[in-house]
Amino acid sequence: MKIIKSIKLLRKEIASLRKKGKTVGFIPTMGYFHEGHLSLMRQSVKENDVSVVSLFVNPVQFGPKEDLSRYPRDMKRDASLAAGAGVDILFAPSVAEMYPSELLTHVHVDALSDGLCGAFRSGHFSGVVTVVAKLVNIVLPDVMYLGQKDAQQAVVIKKMIKDLDFALRVKVCPTLREPDGLAMSSRNIFLSPTERKEAAALSKSLRLARQKILKGESDASKIVSQIKKLILDETSASILYVVCVSVADLKPVRRIEKDVLLALAVKFPSARLIDNEIVTIKKRC
Ligand code: PAJ
Repeated sequence: MKIIKSIKLLRKEIASLRKKGKTVGFIPTMGYFHEGHLSLMRQSVKENDVSVVSLFVNPVQFGPKEDLSRYPRDMKRDASLAAGAGVDILFAPSVAEMYPSELLTHVHVDALSDGLCGAFRSGHFSGVVTVVAKLVNIVLPDVMYLGQKDAQQAVVIKKMIKDLDFALRVKVCPTLREPDGLAMSSRNIFLSPTERKEAAALSKSLRLARQKILKGESDASKIVSQIKKLILDETSASILYVVCVSVADLKPVRRIEKDVLLALAVKFPSARLIDNEIVTIKKRC
């Protein structure tokens, strides 16, 4: 696996691979890899001639009071995990390489960026889609792989790709979980042992909600209340939001008649966690 830090060198490398007719899969990340990241890499390796992973903790998507400085980093470990997953190129630029001068251009996806996490993290999705637009322009992949774990991020990025006519496909891959159901996340290491145990309640609440919907419950407010109750009963976290929204446009749903996205964010004293579940509705007769 090649580790490349310069945009110019990466472009050269990719141009020569493209000349040979190679297809390119791309996985944007902020590093500190876990099985969730590795599953995206393996999927890309399976489906493309060449797989490129970017590792860049993007300052532009962190708010002033967020955890940019303590975001976990371990380049050596990441490089060996990516190589083990079969990745061909690890693109790990510095902040100065990605943002050599004051950034005056921002990409923003209206509406879809405003609710859910966007309501609590002003400017976050603008930072995400701006860096993803830059990365896609640099890598020029055929396919980009994203995780369902960050459901709103995937919806917002897909819309940016569509609206701006970027020539690539986006694949959203399933959320990888710990044995107790907790969605894998680079931020899980911040949790205290008690918080870590309690955090299993997030996926449990979503699983139970899913079962209730599949058994016929169609009142979204009831489902949301049940999720909130279970989290409040079983954890010390405060709830930022729990929503039942349409999968396509993230608009709130009142009666569950079509596929919905159940999404939540909570704040433990040590870390903020998100999780979600898509519930696919078979036509009821
Ligand atoms: P990061 O949090 O490192 O995540 C990189 C990719 O891994 C994202 O597509 C995310 O959805 C996916 N991922 C994270 N946890 C996962 C899990 N448990 N199962 C499956 N996939 C998972 O998301 C970002 O970085 C950044 O915002 C980025 C898109 C790179 C822009 O800076």
